[in-house]
Amino acid sequence: MNIRRLSPDDAPGYRTLRLRALWELPQAFTSSYEEDEKLPLEASEKRLGSHHNRFWGAFEGDELCGMVGLECETRAKNRHKAKVVGMYVAHEQTGRGMGGALMKALIDDARASRLELLVLTVTEGDSAALRLYQRSGFRSFGIEPRAIKVDGHAYPKNHMYLELPPS
Ligand SMILES: CC(C)(COP(=O)(O)OP(=O)(O)OC[C@H]1O[C@@H](n2cnc3c(N)ncnc32)[C@H](O)[C@@H]1OP(=O)(O)O)[C@@H](O)C(=O)NCCC(=O)NCCS
Repeated sequence: MNIRRLSPDDAPGYRTLRLRALWELPQAFTSSYEEDEKLPLEASEKRLGSHHNRFWGAFEGDELCGMVGLECETRAKNRHKAKVVGMYVAHEQTGRGMGGALMKALIDDARASRLELLVLTVTEGDSAALRLYQRSGFRSFGIEPRAIKVDGHAYPKNHMYLELPPS
């Protein structure tokens, strides 16, 4: 397994894996397959190349099998924090430490760039993701009822945070 930052050159693999994630697990993500599959490859290139975003990929050989992203805030009052987005590991690769390794790469980078707070949301009932986030040090600060709706069914989301005190 190899973990590295993704660049715009990784857009084809990133787009394929992201659409797979949105298709397989619609309740796990706020983005939807139906909206994202209409976006061209250039949208993925732009996302991976944006100064405000950072994405990491987990590879087996040349194949992208897992990913996670960090969306940084830009305004003066909140640029000390960033949002963790799009955590996904292809199910045939789960349970081998890929999710943990992706989260470690993200947190190490966040510390190095002096971010002070990471936030994320996880759909209630997604126990594998919840365990991964808790193991990585995230704590819950509230449940948002009816946070997303998928096929007419509403799901609550757990909001979590990780403080990164300056070392
Ligand atoms: C949540 C998710 C990212 C976890 O990915 P993963 O690669 O399986 O994560 P890890 O392997 O690091 O951890 C999973 C389990 O494997 C175990 N594990 C970690 N390293 C291991 C290793 N080297 N050997 C064996 N087991 C290992 C962990 O202890 C963990 O067990 P636990 O869940 O009982 O605590 C993955 O299940 C996923 O993509 N889920 C669907 C999408 C999703 O819900 N995303 C979150 C959106 S908020």
